Amino acid sequence: MAKRSCLAIILAAGEGTRMRSALPKVMHQVAGLPMLGHVLAAARGAGATRIAVVVGPEARAVREFIAKQAPDAVVHEQAERKGTAHAVLAARKELAGGHDDILVLYGDTPLITPATLKKLRGALVRGADVAFLGFRPDVPTGYGRLIMDGRQLVAIREEKDGSDEERRIGFCNAGVAAFRGSAAPLLKKIGNRNAKGEYYLTDLVEIANRGKRKVVALETEAEEVLGVNTRKELAAIEAVFQSRARDAAMTGGATLTAPETVFFSHDTQLGRDVVVEPNVVFGPGVTIADGVTIRAFSHLEGARVATGAVIGPYARLRPGAEIGAKARIGNFVEVKNGVIDEGAKVNHLTYIGDAHVGARSNIGAGTITCNYDGYGKYHTEIGADVFVGSDSALVAPVTLGDGSYVGSGSVITEDVPADALAIGRGRQVVKPGWAATFRAKHADKGGHD
Ligand code: UD1
Ligand code: CA
Repeated sequence: MAKRSCLAIILAAGEGTRMRSALPKVMHQVAGLPMLGHVLAAARGAGATRIAVVVGPEARAVREFIAKQAPDAVVHEQAERKGTAHAVLAARKELAGGHDDILVLYGDTPLITPATLKKLRGALVRGADVAFLGFRPDVPTGYGRLIMDGRQLVAIREEKDGSDEERRIGFCNAGVAAFRGSAAPLLKKIGNRNAKGEYYLTDLVEIANRGKRKVVALETEAEEVLGVNTRKELAAIEAVFQSRARDAAMTGGATLTAPETVFFSHDTQLGRDVVVEPNVVFGPGVTIADGVTIRAFSHLEGARVATGAVIGPYARLRPGAEIGAKARIGNFVEVKNGVIDEGAKVNHLTYIGDAHVGARSNIGAGTITCNYDGYGKYHTEIGADVFVGSDSALVAPVTLGDGSYVGSGSVITEDVPADALAIGRGRQVVKPGWAATFRAKHADKGGHD
């Protein structure tokens, strides 16, 4: 199949009015990625050699997203919504490209898998001219019904055009279709004489049947072809995605203590023997190596964590956090654009931003890198084997040399040479007997209560 060329046409011209949003529907995110991104990935995964996306007018956000995420994909505009066949024909230039297989997908059906799309293409390899994806929803109302004659799909009847008998059919059109490039000219024969006055892609089935072509239907689970019209449906799809991601994580060798409380991003990568405790959230761009433990209530985004490190509980890793092997990031510690080398410990109540912490260094509780002056960001360089006493403020730009010490409660504004001790705080004053004298003076007032 690898040798067959494949054009994927993704329909994304829907207005999505029921989302009540300023954002085009296909830009709403599932696991941190716009729905359209999921569909683009599925098309690629199914071996699409060319991808065309059909968008509506004023789809600037969609065009920008495609330019970034799939710069090789081409965008075609459907100026007016006149039905699914009309939408496919908005990409007619691509249809003329002599592709072996053509796949049609919806931009608002993000759970479709490459495996299912490959099966549809497989039907073409085995001789079908047209193959539609079917499913059996709990409530078929509103879907096109697949009318079968043995293994031949003879027609798809839209809800509004069907007879009572046809509406009793439970086998429904998911909207995903595959057809041979040689069947593409049939699309031009589709008319709009139906209840909605639209050009229905589904009419391709009857037209192909008239031409004695082989038309088949493949069945998939309803869950995979769930579409999004409302925010509630978006949440339902997010839930399915998360459940799949949790299963995949566990199958891949990670332990999730309470899987239903862990939230993944579309691109989260976990190594083997990773342990994820309850209530952990992965934002986009996280890679976790083997043997890492992410303790409860941690939030990670744009971060890399190397083998054997322990993160949390209650840790926050922000973009640019790189945690070295066996390092420790403890409770209420935030790391942003910070590299923490092997074996370093940042265990409590600390902010590390725009900084490098060398191997085996120990950053005491309450340490803050003061990286921002309201205008610019500045770097803090901490060498290897450094010990920073608790409650210190490191005012960037500043460097702590290898093996240096910082006394607790210091405000460090100047570089500290290797192996030196820096103390940057008011010197302690002790006045013997002062407290007793003070109390005696106030004794007649009855003291404090
Ligand atoms: C369509 C199918 C129906 C199927 C259902 C599955 C047809 C005629 N009907 O119905 O058999 O059961 O999907 O969900 O194909 N779109 C455009 N431009 C248009 C029209 C649609 O881009 O002019 C896009 C929409 O954004 C959407 C998809 O095509 O992503 C489906 O359109 P929609 O109007 O939701 O089709 P249904 O009436 O639900
Ligand atoms: Ca629909």
